[in-house]
Amino acid sequence: KNTPVITIDGPSGSGKGTVSRILADKLGWHLLDSGAIYRVLALAAIHHGFAADDEESLVALAGALDVKFDVEEDPELTHIILEGEDVTMTIRTQEVANMASKVAALPRVREALLRRQRAFKDLPGLVADGRDMGTVVFTDAAAKVFLTASPEERARRRFEQLREKGIDAKIDQLITEIRERDERDTNRSVAPLCAAEGSLFIDSTNLTITEVVDQILEFAHGKL
Ligand code: C5P
Repeated sequence: KNTPVITIDGPSGSGKGTVSRILADKLGWHLLDSGAIYRVLALAAIHHGFAADDEESLVALAGALDVKFDVEEDPELTHIILEGEDVTMTIRTQEVANMASKVAALPRVREALLRRQRAFKDLPGLVADGRDMGTVVFTDAAAKVFLTASPEERARRRFEQLREKGIDAKIDQLITEIRERDERDTNRSVAPLCAAEGSLFIDSTNLTITEVVDQILEFAHGKL
């Protein structure tokens, strides 16, 4: 089965999420928000009271995770359901993000989530958003993109996002947390955040969403 895949990897706040959603929408393809899977696992771990380094319990939890992505007509309305509970909003907190990047550093946890992620690959195509989509999960992807932006700009975007959702945040604290999470995601021994070979590198600090989307479509066009 020859299902085309576009991978978009990069740090949080690079615009990956928005860009991936628009691309999937334009192409009429499926969308994998792999970060959401790590966040759901993190939330479930918090509910169970598991420590971030309790690999045994976390691997078991990852294998048994009862999570559903209810895809609506409008992908912006995709609901994420954990054990029957709508966690679409609750997985977006900073607490869950921090726990997610800790559990994501455990090799056997990542392995336990591989099949779940690959199951999203289906016709007519898939846009996969994450940290290791091009380097580990979909190594045979037709087009790979690495999207980044300066930490300050990423913190500013996150601040706006949170404010729109009515969540209070301090910009200085966001910059610190973004740096810490980058540090963990980039320096972990397994599936570290890095650009896949042959990927298109985009620094979105001074680009609009539309400009980023257009660059990716042009790049992918020649490869699909
Ligand atoms: O992208 P998002 O901020 O939702 O991801 C939350 C955390 O999940 C990241 O900080 C990262 O540690 C982890 N993650 C990962 N691999 C992915 C996607 C996310 O390790 N493919």
